[in-house]
Amino acid sequence: MFYVSLGVLVLQTTSLVLTMRYSRTLQSDGPRYLASSAVVCAEVLKIAACMLLVFREHSFSVRALNRVLKEEIINKPLLTLKLAIPSGIYTLQNNLLYVALSNLDAATYQVTYQLKILTTALFSVSMLGKILGIYQWLSLVILMTGIALVQQEDLTAGSQLMGLLAVLVACFSSGFAGVYFEKILKESKQSVWIRNIQLGLFGLIFGLGGVFAYDGERVQENGLFQGYNHVTWTVVALQALGGLVIAAVIKYADNILKGFATSISIILSTLISYFLLEDFDPTR
Ligand code: C5P
Repeated sequence: MFYVSLGVLVLQTTSLVLTMRYSRTLQSDGPRYLASSAVVCAEVLKIAACMLLVFREHSFSVRALNRVLKEEIINKPLLTLKLAIPSGIYTLQNNLLYVALSNLDAATYQVTYQLKILTTALFSVSMLGKILGIYQWLSLVILMTGIALVQQEDLTAGSQLMGLLAVLVACFSSGFAGVYFEKILKESKQSVWIRNIQLGLFGLIFGLGGVFAYDGERVQENGLFQGYNHVTWTVVALQALGGLVIAAVIKYADNILKGFATSISIILSTLISYFLLEDFDPTR
């Protein structure tokens, strides 16, 4: 499970970044799809998938499913409320990623987002009491240097600055929310899928709040699903899959390892971005 979850994560990260970038830059007639609405759809899909997984864990018994959901979610309101914290942060982050990929090419985005490995390490040390060896700290310093080099030339256009700011905030939210979720998960024995349903339910509420706060007028004019096409649905499905895989990785491995695994996907997405999307010029 350890290697399978890390491997699937590499593939999922690569395809999500490229498809999301493609979907945001794809020219089509009519309005472009609303990122806030895609975030909500991914949350709904993720909750449905987690329900199915819990259902399977309980031998497909509807009664057992009802019982466990009631016992774990409704009868433990304090624990459920605790999950509102990472959930709110993830919802913000999921929206920010669309801002980032609307303004940065896939490769620059990916490299900059690796800063989350550093924020994750800092939160893991301070919140979980993890101890890192000298080589681990050293690789973090090398990572930081790499990011600083990528940023040297890329700060010219205003929209890029906007994209960059979005990624930087996402790095902090990713580190904090990931470690917070890991803490909750490793403190209790309950199934990771139940925790994910709790996370998703709040995500849905916050996400809907985001739709009405940012895109309320546009939804009234053209509906929640304006501009959706098959690429949008692919992005939504990949994002929902990401939620499942990331939860599994946090359970079977940890957040720091997850960060290093996703950095492998940089190489993959840079190659695809260059050869297939012609989106990125590595000599710049
Ligand atoms: O970039 P990062 O690894 O922080 O991305 C985390 C993503 O996984 C977010 O989209 C978040 O909503 C999702 N997630 C989830 N369930 C978890 C942990 C993360 O859906 N238990």
